[in-house]
Amino acid sequence: MKTHTKTSKFIHWTFSLLYAYGIFKQVEELDQLNNPSILMVEIVFAGIFLGIVFIRYFYMKDVDTLLGAKVEIPKGHLFIAKTIHRLVYLTLILLPTTGLIIAALFAYSLPGINFAVAIHEFSAFLSYALIGIHIVASIYSRLKGEGVWDAMVPIWKEKEKIDSEILSNLETIENKVYKKTEEIFKIK
Ligand code: HEM
Ligand code: HEM
Repeated sequence: MKTHTKTSKFIHWTFSLLYAYGIFKQVEELDQLNNPSILMVEIVFAGIFLGIVFIRYFYMKDVDTLLGAKVEIPKGHLFIAKTIHRLVYLTLILLPTTGLIIAALFAYSLPGINFAVAIHEFSAFLSYALIGIHIVASIYSRLKGEGVWDAMVPIWKEKEKIDSEILSNLETIENKVYKKTEEIFKIK
C-alpha cells in the first residue's frame, strides 16, 4: 500500500499547527499595528509562513494526489482534489502576502489599506471554506475506507468500507459529479 513519506506527513501536520496558530493569534484591529513589537512579530511570522508554504509546495508538487487510494479513482475526482489542493496553496500565499502589504502601507502611511485589509479578510474566509471542504472530504474518504486517509493521517486507522445506505446514495451522486466534471473539462 502506498503512503506519503515521513517528511510529507511531518510538513502536513506541523504546518496545520502553524496555520491554526496564525488564525488564532490574528490581529484584531488595525490600531494594534501602532505597537512596533506587534508589527514586527507579524512581519516575521508572515515571512516564515510564506517561506514554508513555498518549500512545501515545491516538495509536494510532483507527489501523486490521493496517493494511498486502494480503489481506482475517476479522473474527475483527481481533478477536483488537485484543484482544491492548489486553491488551498493559493490562500496560504494570499494570507501572508496581503498581511505584508498591510504592514508596508501602514508603516509608510500609504493609501489603500482598507482595500488590502478587505482582501486579507477574504483570503482568510476562503482558506476556512477550502480547508473545511478538505477535512470533510478526507473524513468521507475515511468512511469509505479508500486508503487515502491512512496515507496521511496517523490516527483512527481505516477498517473495511462501512456498509450504509447513506454512503451508497452519496457515492451515486459523487460518481455523477465526476462524470459531469470530466465532460465539462474534457478530461480523458
Ligand atoms: C483534521 C485536519 C486535516 C485532515 C484530516 C487532513 C487530511 C489530509 C489527507 C488525508 C491528505 C492526503 C491527500 C492525498 O493523498 O492527496 C491531505 C493532504 C493535504 N492537506 Fe490536509 N488534512 C487536514 C488539515 C489540513 C490543513 C489545516 C491544511 C492547510 C493548512 C491542509 C492542506 C493539505 C494539502 C495542501 C494537501 C495536499 C498534499 C500537500 O501538498 O501537502 N490539510 N490532508
Ligand atoms: C501568515 C500570516 C497571517 C495570517 C494567517 C493572518 C490571519 C488573519 C486572519 C484570520 C484575520 C481575520 C480575518 C477576518 O476577520 O475574517 C486577520 C486580520 C487582520 N490581519 Fe492578518 N494574518 C497574517 C499576517 C498579517 C500581517 C503581516 C499583518 C500586518 C502587519 C496583518 C494584519 C491584519 C489586520 C490589520 C487584520 C484586520 C483587523 C480588522 O478587521 O481590523 N496580518 N489576519
